[in-house]
Amino acid sequence: MRRLYFDYNASAPIDPHVLDAVVEALRACGGNPSSVHREGQRARAAVEAARRHVAALIGAHSTEITFTSGATEANNAALLTLAAATEGALVTTLVEHPSVLAPLAAIEARGRAVLRVAVDPLGMIPEPEDLIGQAERAGAGALSVMLANNETGNLFPVARLAALARARGWPTHCDATPAVGKLPVDVEALGVDLLSLSGHKLGAPKGVGALFARADFEPAAAILGGHQERGRRGGPETVPALVGLGRAAEIAARRLADEREAPSPLAALRDALWDAIAAIEPRAVRQTHPTLCLPNTLNVRFPDVDGETLLLNLDLDGIAVSAGSACTAGSLEPSHVILAMGVPPDLARGSVRFSLGPPHTLDDVLALIDRLPAVLARTRTPRW
Ligand SMILES: Cc1ncc(COP(=O)(O)O)c(C=O)c1O
Repeated sequence: MRRLYFDYNASAPIDPHVLDAVVEALRACGGNPSSVHREGQRARAAVEAARRHVAALIGAHSTEITFTSGATEANNAALLTLAAATEGALVTTLVEHPSVLAPLAAIEARGRAVLRVAVDPLGMIPEPEDLIGQAERAGAGALSVMLANNETGNLFPVARLAALARARGWPTHCDATPAVGKLPVDVEALGVDLLSLSGHKLGAPKGVGALFARADFEPAAAILGGHQERGRRGGPETVPALVGLGRAAEIAARRLADEREAPSPLAALRDALWDAIAAIEPRAVRQTHPTLCLPNTLNVRFPDVDGETLLLNLDLDGIAVSAGSACTAGSLEPSHVILAMGVPPDLARGSVRFSLGPPHTLDDVLALIDRLPAVLARTRTPRW
């Protein structure tokens, strides 16, 4: 049976061109980028080329990019930076990724005020002026708001928020992990001071990512013990994976430039999938905003179904999706994002996320639609 992978928000399978670049780097870049000999220089050149590609993808300067082990580390470093550089409450939303919420909780436990702004039943944060009003009343000092939610795909108005925050002297961090490569992301247009991204959401290997920090904003070193990354992150660079990240950034930039002429084909595939699901199960609820969303993400709540069981049954039928976010998969707790939308825990457990990627075709979506009714019938929780 042909496998159908619809879990790009959890991890994008490695792009074949990226794979070639990684293998070549494993072969050719054996030196330590910090060494002055020729082998070291070759590894250094490969890392710096990757940095230029990542910077270009988000409209930054190379010197503003610090490579990390992924967005989790970038988010941790960003929040430590905000906590050290500002006073007053750190303002975020209830639907951020755990790699933002957990460091904020640790910072809060040390006595710093944190405001977590609620979302509405569609999973959208308040209008920027309202959110900033809440922040002002809480005595805000800085903001951390994601560009797109990884579970629903909903987009948040970060550019407007960052402009309002800047006018008040508050810096803004943005976790752009799910959006980078799927939408044009430009740090100048967004006006943010710090931004996190991840390699494996882009078709690069897992274990690499980056933190953008505006030139006048020195990020706190998250890992001490080395001069690497200009003293911001100790430990030798993961050269082959970074080469992969650079290649993935280059490919994403080219694809996004092409999509300026014609919109992403993924949005049409995603909408075809939703139309088919609504026809198969009219009581299904679309938990992704109808318009303000990533082109590739569709979060659906199925009635009388446990999302984890549906996920396992779909897997048996060759289909890979997520119930909640992958990072919490395996736990029976419903997603904090869906709960924040006011969905009762029992219903929230019926949530499934389909996330598409660039190689998908209508053929893949039709194959998924073809297999879905039987899996749903098999999964339904009997009502006694
Ligand atoms: C919104 C968001 N932020 C951060 C992360 C963490 O990224 P990484 O796996 O690179 O640590 C993820 C991963 O799913 C994510 O979706």
